[in-house]
Amino acid sequence: MTKAEGFTLHPFDRENGVQTSGLIPGRYLKTGHTHDRHSTAYFGVAPSVFRALVKRWLRTRPETPIERFTFGDVGAGMGRAMLLASEYGFRQVIGIELNPILAKIAKRNLAIWKEGGRARSPMQILCGDAVGVELPDGPCLIFLFNPFGASVMRRFVKRLSVACAERPAELDLLYVNNEQDGVIGGQPGFTRIFLGKERRSRADAIADHRIMANQPDGEYASANYEDCSMWRWTGKP
Ligand SMILES: C[S@@+](CC[C@H](N)C(=O)[O-])C[C@H]1O[C@@H](n2cnc3c(N)ncnc32)[C@H](O)[C@@H]1O
Repeated sequence: MTKAEGFTLHPFDRENGVQTSGLIPGRYLKTGHTHDRHSTAYFGVAPSVFRALVKRWLRTRPETPIERFTFGDVGAGMGRAMLLASEYGFRQVIGIELNPILAKIAKRNLAIWKEGGRARSPMQILCGDAVGVELPDGPCLIFLFNPFGASVMRRFVKRLSVACAERPAELDLLYVNNEQDGVIGGQPGFTRIFLGKERRSRADAIADHRIMANQPDGEYASANYEDCSMWRWTGKP
């Protein structure tokens, strides 16, 4: 993507020597998969929002220590959330991304991060559809930055609930720009443990506003906060 097409570098990339910037509308992310048309867009999560939400999650005092949790990024894009997650000491950090070009960029970013000694967890990016992926064994924290629309979300949470009904381990969801929150709420077994806004830092707000302002088609907007939620599998109807 060129500057003329709306590319703006986020300071996260400048500071860390990685490539996670840009806004790519879903219609440019086609792969031939039937779920392509439900893909929202590629946009890296604001680091300040990500860290605020993980901090909030840690304050909920999950029963199991973080070192035993798998962090899973659903719609991992170029891997920005995975890079951020790798600094917390999760058991492992796994990302699933539908678009092979983005997955390849993420793989390169993970290598840069590992070489720089930044990763406290093993990291792995998979290329494919999130709905088809098995939930890893053990406690899981699943991160979603509004990857897809309602129908894919419905299939995704249904699969999660089937998997959870058969496994005793904890499962929590962190959802940023939670447009399909109602879909999770409509799936028995999930209990919402947080609903609210997480503010962007000044640096992130400036960068994200600039990226939005550079869009050729001006179809997306950014605010100084993201609507977020956290969900916990309780198995209760
Ligand atoms: C808003 S980006 C989030 C990127 C990353 N999670 C982050 O926070 O930096 C959403 C991503 O979800 C991906 N995606 C959309 N539908 C998907 C699907 N069915 N399975 C896997 N990834 C998908 C898109 O290709 C896009 O890269």
